[in-house]
Amino acid sequence: MKKLSARRRHPLAAVVVLLLALAATGGLYAAFAPAGTAKADETAQSLAIEEGKKLYSVGCASCHGTGGQGTTDGPSLVGVGSASVDFQVGTGRMPAQQPGAQVPKKKVIYSQAEIDQLAAYVASLGAGPITPTEAQYNPAGADIAKGGELFRSNCAQCHNFTGEGGALSNGKYAPSLEGVSPKHLYEAMQTGPQNMPSFPDTTMPEQEKKDIIAYVQAVNGEKADNPGGLSLGGLGPVSEGLFAWVFGLGALIAVAIWVAAHTAKAKKS
Ligand code: HEC
Ligand code: HEC
Repeated sequence: MKKLSARRRHPLAAVVVLLLALAATGGLYAAFAPAGTAKADETAQSLAIEEGKKLYSVGCASCHGTGGQGTTDGPSLVGVGSASVDFQVGTGRMPAQQPGAQVPKKKVIYSQAEIDQLAAYVASLGAGPITPTEAQYNPAGADIAKGGELFRSNCAQCHNFTGEGGALSNGKYAPSLEGVSPKHLYEAMQTGPQNMPSFPDTTMPEQEKKDIIAYVQAVNGEKADNPGGLSLGGLGPVSEGLFAWVFGLGALIAVAIWVAAHTAKAKKS
């Protein structure tokens, strides 16, 4: 009994308890965090459309019209499809902020779940290109040499031979393709944003798009795979923040306790 209470009073015991508590917070969070990619059944789909409609009326309707019919400040979104929304909002182009020759990429302000809801709503206005699945855009096993040929004949005139981009007329430009994700590469080809022509599956089949994606990734080296920052298994910014919270704060508390314990000892002696 005496031994146990002595051990309890050991300054490190407090640290262990605190670390356990912090780790438990993290574990609970991970267990209850919303799952991003649950396969949507019909009710989930209509719910997504409803949520998307709400987000749309706050963030998009002023330029694209209350029913997506378009205004003088933005084009109609009827029939642009979920892929176009996923690309435009997922690369931070939308919501646009000011008029100009070309809407630039910005920090993405919606979560992927919200982007999916916006996309579901816009897709409900009229059929268009559908957001590709990973099976469609994942370039694993694709033919890089063939992709290079396709890239040189279809893309290089604007994006340059290795995808570093280039200026077009009237202040417009084809952006660099470095760091663009396979999904956004696929969607750009599907939807042809702005001055870019579209390459629908009828003229450029899925496999050719995969070959091109593999080529772009090869010339960009590893950069295209890594969105930057500490990867932590790609848990995302919220979880990474939590990681910093649990371990960073835990470490600070440990230091504080160590200092306190040593000051106490110093006083006693
Ligand atoms: C300030 C006005 C403005 C706001 C706000 C805005 N957009 Fe846009 N949007 C535009 C303009 C202008 C274009 C045409 C861009 C271009 O040609 O470069 C556009 C283009 C698009 C396109 C591409 C259409 C196509 O033909 O493929 C999509 C999709 C889109 N917007 C979705 C959205 C969504 C979703 C939101 C809300 C999250 C939003 N926009 C908010 C002005 C706006
Ligand atoms: C006629 C010129 C032109 C051709 C040809 C062209 N693009 Fe583009 N591309 C553009 C322009 C312009 C944009 C920017 C659109 C915008 O910002 O709204 C763009 C944007 C993109 C983006 C988005 C990049 C980002 O930063 O988010 C990708 C990916 C892309 N193009 C891939 C391709 C691929 C792959 C091909 C060949 C299959 C191709 N493009 C052919 C002009 C072109």
